[in-house]
Amino acid sequence: MNIIEFGEKTRRDHYLMDQDVVYVNHGSYGPCPSFVYEELRRLRLEQERNPDRWFRTLKYTLYGDCVRAAARRLDCNFEQITLVDNATVGVNAILKSPLPMFKSTSGGTILCTNLAYGAVLFTIEETAKQRGMKVRMINIQLPITDKQAFIQQFENELNKGDVEDIRLAVIDHITSATAILLPIDELTDLFHAHGIPVLVDGAHGPGQVYPYLSLNKLKCDFYVGTFHKWMYAARGCSFLFVRDTTIANQIQPANTSWGYRPAPVHLNLMTHFHLQFFHQGTRDESALLTLPKAIEFADSLAGGFDRIYQYNSNLSEQAKALLEQRWNTQGKDLVPSEMHSPYLKMIQLPDLEEYKKTNEDALRLLNHLIEHHKLISIILCVNNELYVRIATQIYNRIEDYIVLADKIDQFRKK
Ligand SMILES: Cc1ncc(COP(=O)(O)O)c(C=O)c1O
Repeated sequence: MNIIEFGEKTRRDHYLMDQDVVYVNHGSYGPCPSFVYEELRRLRLEQERNPDRWFRTLKYTLYGDCVRAAARRLDCNFEQITLVDNATVGVNAILKSPLPMFKSTSGGTILCTNLAYGAVLFTIEETAKQRGMKVRMINIQLPITDKQAFIQQFENELNKGDVEDIRLAVIDHITSATAILLPIDELTDLFHAHGIPVLVDGAHGPGQVYPYLSLNKLKCDFYVGTFHKWMYAARGCSFLFVRDTTIANQIQPANTSWGYRPAPVHLNLMTHFHLQFFHQGTRDESALLTLPKAIEFADSLAGGFDRIYQYNSNLSEQAKALLEQRWNTQGKDLVPSEMHSPYLKMIQLPDLEEYKKTNEDALRLLNHLIEHHKLISIILCVNNELYVRIATQIYNRIEDYIVLADKIDQFRKK
């Protein structure tokens, strides 16, 4: 198999997006390569041709292979990882399961930060309501100039006291709305020193952090990540990692189904942890089962993770420099460069004529660019300034960010 040339040729020959759309937002709903999409189609056809065979036997064999592939790629044991549709499914399962850390007479507290993903914050809020727990939020102040100052904000919060009441800390690996790479091992050490277990929301971690994400080498207790963002799988392919396998088997998906008490015929090597999440009635699991093809795409056609990382991270730096120069917004970083996400960057926008620096106007501009300019980007309001979060993926080229700069220039204050 020949290695593909990244940029325009990859986009034209290996992706299915409309050719007239400029796509600099892979981080949200980024498309998968046609090589993987074809596999999704093939799996669905296979299912359709003989549904009973699929649901009763075939899918279990395919699923076992997928979990093994996931464990190999992320460097953990088969028993520590299960596949879930998306990151929020994994977060819900951890928060809502009857785990030892939640079993206490007092209500307890869930600790999180204001940088967390919106749907994850909703899950924390709802769980706390259901369990009679409190939510304690660390309001991280941005910008920060060095990593230690960032960690200090966590230390300051813990020094305020009432730490014994905290049952779980939820932190991001890479934040969504601010594209910050968190020092998760240092933070986990800090929480563990206070006896607090840690769940990392790693929706953006796998395939983006360098070197390869090794779950074995991390220190956190739980890690939720996606394969459909930066690892080329079809949308609806994610995972949940639990370090302690005795705890893994106590975790329950938010949706109780047949996996709750699986038929012995399905037990071939799979644990309760696997089957609870996999045997979810007549659900179409085809996207989950695209993982082996996604790994094959990255390793063979795309030339491996190092080549992908080189391309995406270099292009990300180049695009950031270009946009900042065009808009004269250099030096407006929210965090030091060691905490920049490799493939996602935040660039402050110049003052715009028709768009105020509010969340509402950020969304209005984002939708306007999609609907009227065929430009897919994400505009956010942070610290009362508008930012664009740019993503780089192997189908992007520097010209995509020049189009972005030109489009935004049309709205600039004269
Ligand atoms: C940090 C973070 N967490 C969670 C999610 C939710 O992922 P999903 O849509 O796969 O549930 C996202 C999605 O972009 C995210 O960026």
